[in-house]
Amino acid sequence: MTQRGAGALARQLERYYVRFNDDFWAFFAAEVQPLLPEAPVLADLGCGPGLFLRDVSGRLPGATLIGVDRGDDMLGHARSLEYVGSTPTFESGDVTGTLPLADGSVDLLTIAAVMHTLEDPFSFLKEVRRVLKPGGVFLLYDWVRVGFKEYIDLRVSEPGDPLEARYPRALELFSTHNKYTAGDWRWIFEEAHFSVVKEAWPFPRAIALVTRPG
Ligand SMILES: C[S@@+](CC[C@H](N)C(=O)[O-])C[C@H]1O[C@@H](n2cnc3c(N)ncnc32)[C@H](O)[C@@H]1O
Repeated sequence: MTQRGAGALARQLERYYVRFNDDFWAFFAAEVQPLLPEAPVLADLGCGPGLFLRDVSGRLPGATLIGVDRGDDMLGHARSLEYVGSTPTFESGDVTGTLPLADGSVDLLTIAAVMHTLEDPFSFLKEVRRVLKPGGVFLLYDWVRVGFKEYIDLRVSEPGDPLEARYPRALELFSTHNKYTAGDWRWIFEEAHFSVVKEAWPFPRAIALVTRPG
């Protein structure tokens, strides 16, 4: 693993809990779980080190779980975890282009902190529509554009890097993270003919949207 890869993995492991906090899981239980069948198929795109799949495996013990990521170090960590419910299968692959999932095969497709990096959200959502079962749900959890000061203040207060490294890291990722406003996100779904069933803000500059095609 490269130094950069090791750093990214360590940061994912430390910061996961900031976003996937009690508010997120309360929202998940109230707004997402009731939309799922008894034994859902769940695929997490850009699953990183697998912590979401591990935590969701305890909440949906009958689920079939799939993780997709292009980072071998991330998938290596995800494979090493212990899962309370079923153990996921993992696909090494890119989530731009054709998703490594069959047509109409998924009840819940999730993507956290990745969709803002995709060049073309509309062709991605076409793929989402293709792989969802009828009545399937797409859950986005991603960054929302905020003012420069608010962004920097939040980033430097997050756990992870030593303090002296936080400004350089914040500046490096600012233009990537700080892309879509909440209105932009809503419009992307509207434009792609998805309905937003529920919106929540479990973390100050991150939006969760429960959506469905049509
Ligand atoms: C910021 S991390 C988020 C990890 C996890 N979803 C979370 O929220 O904790 C982004 C992850 O997405 C993966 N990723 C980014 N772009 C990708 C792409 N185009 N295809 C597949 N994986 C991608 C990275 O390898 C990394 O593991």
